[in-house]
Amino acid sequence: MKGIILAGGLGSRLYPLTHATNKHLLPIYDQPMIYYPIATLVNAGIDHIMIVTGGPHAGHFLRVLKNGNHLGIRHLEYAYQESEGGIAEALSLCREFAAGDDVCVILGDNTTDADISGDVESFTDGALLFLARVHDPERFGCPVFDPDDPSSIIEIQEKPSQPPSSYAVTGLYIYDNRVFDYIGRLSPSDRGELEITDVNNWYIRDRALRWTELDGHWSDAGTFESLYRAGRFWAERRAAGVQRADVFSTSET
Ligand code: DAU
Repeated sequence: MKGIILAGGLGSRLYPLTHATNKHLLPIYDQPMIYYPIATLVNAGIDHIMIVTGGPHAGHFLRVLKNGNHLGIRHLEYAYQESEGGIAEALSLCREFAAGDDVCVILGDNTTDADISGDVESFTDGALLFLARVHDPERFGCPVFDPDDPSSIIEIQEKPSQPPSSYAVTGLYIYDNRVFDYIGRLSPSDRGELEITDVNNWYIRDRALRWTELDGHWSDAGTFESLYRAGRFWAERRAAGVQRADVFSTSET
């Protein structure tokens, strides 16, 4: 399975911080934000990774990540997204990199301490979504469960004003290669983006979507409040004795 980290966009919700660098290079406690999704993939045994980025500070990634070997990445590629056309558009740039394989996709502003290696190993086909219970589901993709079979999702709504459940669809997804065909069918949403939620709804229509609850802490970091929350969580983890080496399977040089 290949790994994909989506780190494009302008990070305008974090202005003025993101005037100086890309959002995903801002610190979450003692590490650049993008180290956390890298750790999630590497710790799940995924070491062929493509990072999609964009905007005026894209070159900063090379300075920080270099070839990624010091973070446990064996093969690192970069793609440049010309505009902020949405998460699904960013993913579409990875078709050649995926080369027919399944892909584990994580948004560059998502952090989790969950171990997803079992899900990666047992994945066969379709889509696997990771859900998390949140106090503010209206900020996220939100699943509608089948009233007759609550284990099954019948629709995902993007940022619903009246959330149908208390779950968020986290920015962590495993897809088979048909994801790229689904993206090809999308049209831009009202906010002018190709939405990952529309991709997930295609999988639902084709009865090929499964979900699991993420086993651990999860937070995005795209707003000041969530950035602060994520930083506090990881600071507390360090204070409790969890060292850098537990976030990364290889230690930093
Ligand atoms: O964090 C989980 C949520 O992420 C999901 O629940 C939502 O369904 C999903 O749409 C997304 O919502 P956000 O509003 O938080 O997405 P945002 O626009 O903040 O983008 C999240 C990351 O995706 C961002 O850190 C970089 C990447 N991205 C985003 C856009 C719009 C790209 O790589 N390219 C883009 O054009």
